[in-house]
Amino acid sequence: MNMKILIKKATIVNYDKISEADILISGDKIVKISKNIKEKVDREINAAGKHVLPGFIDMHVHLRTPGREDEEDFLSGSLAAAKGGFTTVFCMPNTSPCIDNEGLANWVREEAQRIGLVDIWPIGAITKNREGRELTEFGAFKKVGCMALSDDGNSVEDSFLFRCALEYAKMFDLLTISHCEDKNLSRQGSMRESFISSKYGIGSIPDISETVRLYRDIEIARYVDARLHLAHVSCAKSVEVIADKKEHFPGLSCETAPHYFILTVDDVEKSAFNANFKVNPPLGKKEDVEAVRSALKKGIIDCIATDHAPHSAAEKELPFEDAPFGFIGLELCFALVYTYLVTKDILDIKGLVEKLSYNPARILRLGNKGKIQEGLLADLVITDLRKEWEVKKDSLVSKSKNTPFLDSTLKGTVNYTIHRGKVVYESTGL
Ligand code: DOR
Repeated sequence: MNMKILIKKATIVNYDKISEADILISGDKIVKISKNIKEKVDREINAAGKHVLPGFIDMHVHLRTPGREDEEDFLSGSLAAAKGGFTTVFCMPNTSPCIDNEGLANWVREEAQRIGLVDIWPIGAITKNREGRELTEFGAFKKVGCMALSDDGNSVEDSFLFRCALEYAKMFDLLTISHCEDKNLSRQGSMRESFISSKYGIGSIPDISETVRLYRDIEIARYVDARLHLAHVSCAKSVEVIADKKEHFPGLSCETAPHYFILTVDDVEKSAFNANFKVNPPLGKKEDVEAVRSALKKGIIDCIATDHAPHSAAEKELPFEDAPFGFIGLELCFALVYTYLVTKDILDIKGLVEKLSYNPARILRLGNKGKIQEGLLADLVITDLRKEWEVKKDSLVSKSKNTPFLDSTLKGTVNYTIHRGKVVYESTGL
């Protein structure tokens, strides 16, 4: 017997429309959206005054499994995702061992299904062990259900190999996701090249490290006419290139992460070089934050992904230059987007849905997700847009607590997350 849930008096937000109605869920699907639905159900949720959004889809997370389950595993990652309103996440292959074969990719799928809280899809590596020398078996990845490939953390240095990768990806209808970084320019720096990096003599990464590689990747993808998605776009120069290239190349899409429209190198200095402010690509300057905000508003940047990158406290307590790059993001993303973009009129709530649900579903071709519509999967998030809350270390369910937003006050809470018709997160005391 299918379990039935009725959500009453919902303000339903799709990327293109806001409406008021009840939502009836039966099994894993939305079966009816209409005013005053009367139906005998297993559970009724009163959503008066709440906004119901399509479950969020994160194209870019690191779940550290296999290899660093002390930092995150599929269960803790799923709990963090569900708490943040994410019903689908795509995990990067920079694990140990690397997800560079179909056996491991299939194991990720099976493990995720066994846990069953959210959909976890593996992103296969482009090259073996992400070393940039030998391509992986794209056809085998496709067979086990992979939709995208990436060497995230590394760029494929060899331009010819990258061209071959794009040609094969096109053949198998896989999305290539580029980590755009010219490591010869980054020179193992720790923060954005800036007045502050010079003042403290800290090894630095110029913005052109991202932009020149992004330019190359776009031109190669355009040459072979393959779909290309750019990960974590962080600076004004990259935005300028993407704005120009998108006009001629519809196969191009990109994402940014919340920190790139909120924080700058000044925050790194103000934190006294706390490694919780160290991320790759590094935090930029004020003009970068402004460019990323404006690109989100204009639709130049399609998606917001978290780049959820858990790291142990011991590693993040190392001196800034020795600590690993990355922030956790799944539990904070929605409130960060709402607080820093929606309440500041950079996006409206439909725009938030477009960046967090609709566009990722469109880019990854998840036809049954990203919208609230009869017949589609019941992946929903019930939110309270009026509620403020404080980010407290102890309330984070991710195994790692490395975020620069600890103790910040944010607006917007997730009250329920429903994944494939099941309540997988329910807030207590909100
Ligand atoms: O900051 C980052 N952390 N950037 C990346 O590209 C990788 C990630 C990680 O895996 O920790």
